[in-house]
Amino acid sequence: MSDQSISSELHTHKKSKNSSPRNPSSNSLRFFFCKCSQLFIIFLFQVFILNFIFTTPSKSASLHQDIQQQNTLLSPQKCDYGMIYVYELPAMFNKELINNCRDLDPWHSRCNAVSNDGLGPKAVGLSGVPENLAPSWYWTDMFAGEVIYHARMMNHKCRTTEPESATAFYIPFYAGLAVAKYLFTNYTAKDRDLHCERLLKWVQDQKPWRRSNGSDHFIMLGRMTWDFRRSKEEDWGSSFIYMPLMKRILRLAVERDPWDQLEISVPYPTGFHPKSTSEMDQWLDFVHAHRRTSLFTFVGGKRKVRSDFRTILQSHCYNESDSCRVVDCSGTRCYDGTSEILEAFLDSDFCLQPRGDAYTRRSTFDCMLAGSIPVFFWKRSINRQYEWFLGDEPEKFSVFIDRKDVRNGASIRKVLEGYSRDEVRRMREMVISLIPKFVYSIMPNDDVGSTKDAFDLAIDGVLKRFYEQKG
Ligand SMILES: *[C@@H]1O[C@H](CO)[C@@H](O)[C@H](O)[C@H]1NC(C)=O
Ligand SMILES: *[C@@H]1O[C@H](CO)[C@@H](O)[C@H](O)[C@H]1NC(C)=O
Ligand SMILES: *[C@@H]1O[C@H](CO)[C@@H](O)[C@H](O)[C@H]1NC(C)=O
Repeated sequence: MSDQSISSELHTHKKSKNSSPRNPSSNSLRFFFCKCSQLFIIFLFQVFILNFIFTTPSKSASLHQDIQQQNTLLSPQKCDYGMIYVYELPAMFNKELINNCRDLDPWHSRCNAVSNDGLGPKAVGLSGVPENLAPSWYWTDMFAGEVIYHARMMNHKCRTTEPESATAFYIPFYAGLAVAKYLFTNYTAKDRDLHCERLLKWVQDQKPWRRSNGSDHFIMLGRMTWDFRRSKEEDWGSSFIYMPLMKRILRLAVERDPWDQLEISVPYPTGFHPKSTSEMDQWLDFVHAHRRTSLFTFVGGKRKVRSDFRTILQSHCYNESDSCRVVDCSGTRCYDGTSEILEAFLDSDFCLQPRGDAYTRRSTFDCMLAGSIPVFFWKRSINRQYEWFLGDEPEKFSVFIDRKDVRNGASIRKVLEGYSRDEVRRMREMVISLIPKFVYSIMPNDDVGSTKDAFDLAIDGVLKRFYEQKG
């Protein structure tokens, strides 16, 4: 799984450098990738994201019924907003990508990442989680959403096999997997667009497409939107989203373009996939009751970039070692099977979440899953993202500290100590109440009374939107 994480981080890294709409230049990327030392640092840094377990003993508590009740109940087999048709695509757009998992990125096998319907391998050896919950933890890859969504959709209660009775059309194309391999090394823009072009060519010949030109179609992108927004040949990424036929297709993506109304951001998958409401409740009780001994935590590696913000945060954290806990991923400590990261999140009231290569990070969800309150330094890390899941008032469950203040010497510890115990408790309650909405569960359809997970909320939202759009 370190393989996956390495390549993932590489991907993200390039993306932000080159694909940022404001900063398109791909030469710097190439330069970047030639620098082995930097590559190594990225590699080490990324590893931590995937390794998410812990060893803290569980304490029992049962305070969370109220939180559970805030979440809406699944209505029994009713599809008020219509049915979904899942296209049967030629294998090259999904199945073949999985079959060729060894060859999905230039350096490493991605077979673990895409295994098990996208959940990844079971996190064997996981210690510290309540024992009966350990089997519900997986080494889930942060970019596996495409596979997870497809598998879930095949079993969706509102899926129909008759296009005539559908109001929504899902295109199960694994765009991120198809493109990832070509993002890095010396591939051409044409290579990066190949699958995408063929997919659209295929779709436009389908009957449902001709009825709507795509306005009732949707797709899930397992990577950040910026990986699909290349406007110039030499820039980063594929130009998928800018292709004319994409103009009306609704897109779910792990990071959206905040200004694109046709894009919805959905949570990065984390490692916990509960099988029942009772497992979820147990987890909520567990993180709620966990004793937290550090004020804040920083998990990450330094980068050899001048005045790198993460390096500043790490140094800050080391300087405040009485109240801050560092998990330094510049060494090998974030490797497979470490419980250090989850343990650190579980033990801390707050976790620092600087932007990564993209504005958003999977780590934010890892942090919140452990009941820790995220601290952002870029508004774009949370504003106008994940609103269907986390709401649109991030100040209720997170803290914002301007990175400029930090660079100018402001003390993060003092800012965080400025929150009363009551305020911290309130924010943590909010974080915990959101967990069931951003986790991807594997509860059976007929678990009546189960809360809607991230997938349910995403698909409900899509259906509702198409329904309202049609009037
Ligand atoms: C690979 O990169 C080199 C230098 O950047 C360039 O001259 C060459 O044409 C590239 N090859 C391909 C196949 O794109
Ligand atoms: C779809 O697009 C084509 C080409 O622009 C146009 O001729 C046709 O009327 C459109 N159909 C619908 C249903 O909007
Ligand atoms: C941490 O402490 C060292 C030594 O006192 C100091 O040079 C450095 O600037 C401090 N770092 C931060 C981020 O405050």
